[in-house]
Amino acid sequence: MITPPHDIVFLTSEIYPFSKSGGLADVMGILPLTLSRLGVRVAVITPFYGRLSTGHYPVHLVHENCPVGYPWPDTTADIYQADYHGLPVYFVERGEYFDRRNYYCTEKGDYFDNCERFIFFCRAALSAIRHLDMHARIVHAQDWHAALAAAYIAFWRRSDPFWAGVRTVMSIHNQAFQGRFSYRLFEQSGLPLEAWNMEGVEFYNSFNLLKAGIAYADKITTVSPSYAREIMTPEFGCGLEGILSRRSADLVGILNGADYSIWSPENDPVLECTYSALNPDGKQDCKAYLLDMLGLSPGLEHRPVLGFIGRLRGQKGIDIVLDIVPELMKLNVGLVVLGEGKAEYEARLMSIMEDYPTRVSAIIGYTEELSHVIQAGSDIFLMPSRYEPCGLTQMYSLSYGTPPVATAVGGLRDTIVPYPADGANGFIFDSPSPAALLAAVREAVRVWEDRAAWRRIQVNAMQTHFSWEQSARKYMDVYASLHGDLASQWRIR
Ligand code: ADP
Ligand code: GLC
Repeated sequence: MITPPHDIVFLTSEIYPFSKSGGLADVMGILPLTLSRLGVRVAVITPFYGRLSTGHYPVHLVHENCPVGYPWPDTTADIYQADYHGLPVYFVERGEYFDRRNYYCTEKGDYFDNCERFIFFCRAALSAIRHLDMHARIVHAQDWHAALAAAYIAFWRRSDPFWAGVRTVMSIHNQAFQGRFSYRLFEQSGLPLEAWNMEGVEFYNSFNLLKAGIAYADKITTVSPSYAREIMTPEFGCGLEGILSRRSADLVGILNGADYSIWSPENDPVLECTYSALNPDGKQDCKAYLLDMLGLSPGLEHRPVLGFIGRLRGQKGIDIVLDIVPELMKLNVGLVVLGEGKAEYEARLMSIMEDYPTRVSAIIGYTEELSHVIQAGSDIFLMPSRYEPCGLTQMYSLSYGTPPVATAVGGLRDTIVPYPADGANGFIFDSPSPAALLAAVREAVRVWEDRAAWRRIQVNAMQTHFSWEQSARKYMDVYASLHGDLASQWRIR
């Protein structure tokens, strides 16, 4: 067991490699670890899901029957711990809430008791901090699932000396997911009635968990500087732009990094052939492997293959890709899609695959390994997101020498240097429309045909580095702004 003190305690609903449905898991799998390598005493608390893959990392029970407290006096949680490369990861276990097939939903929709599940998670995590004597100085909540923790602490520290010195940070990975529920569930949360107002948790007569985090956290972060600006506008704020603007002095955008121990073609064990910017030949073999594996025409070895990996949701703009497939096919390119999500998009993908069986392949599902194979085997990566808080898949595509074609939003804007600028590593287009995407793909294909020009973009892409160490240091600045003495401790360590 790794024993406290843990100065910074992260609360998150996902952490790779234990659980993952998207980028939040990737971030949690590396940011706390990077902080701990920089000398920060950090721990993570997350739910113990039934589908948790604890494989290489044994978990141990560290506290049984941790009480969750008012207004749930009889409810308890068991707390487990794993040692993830020296980082203590605590798991909150209660089968009735987390031992399910999926994390948040079934094919039919969200679990009916999601609010209760994550009220429970937050309360149990805070209870674990107390009962395990973690000595948390800062509780750092991720997304709506953990947001209530900031609200509880803000109220409890008024009267409970245990919480008096604890500060909170709320990180927004996606402002569109807010966790909105009814007043009845607000009552179940045990928050005082005074939290039910426009500057608190109330949002158009609903109980808004993300808003609770925004209203009560001491500092707020989001995952790119551009998204930090965007979420204060009506276009991207999803109704929370007002409260965020009022808190703008406490809001900071810190760009995510990429974990190059997992996402580098030079040392990726999943790949048929490894390669690098200096030694790029293996990429062609990866492409041949991908085409062969998916039964696509070998002729595509001499034409660009477009890749798309992501949740099949409006955010990611997969419908915009679907709208232009016939036009794309006229460019004599291939298209490979990996994703799962909205049934309508999945059905359209299946039907397009039947129309172009040798040039389009769509894999519906979630397959970590295949995502690496597609990153390596494609030539151009499509990311026509309508909004993108940061986006990690374009960072990975850059690393794999697969320049992205992306919309000028959020983190895409902050990570891609658009052609024809000096140092270009990809292509950017302004509005998420079929015509704009098509024009940008046409341009990318034209440049791809010019071998030397393409090679320059690829090398730029592969040399673009999104350092987690740099970002972790920015989080340390945020923590130090709340507890000045932490900075001096870090200097000594
Ligand atoms: P978001 O978190 O909005 O989904 P990101 O780009 O930040 O987007 O991160 C997505 C993460 O999920 C990446 O690691 C990506 O490779 C992975 N991913 C998304 N869809 C799939 C899928 N169908 N199969 C495997 N990995 C996927
Ligand atoms: C969210 C966002 C994505 C971001 C990820 C990790 O899921 O949609 O843009 O990269 O969180 O921060």
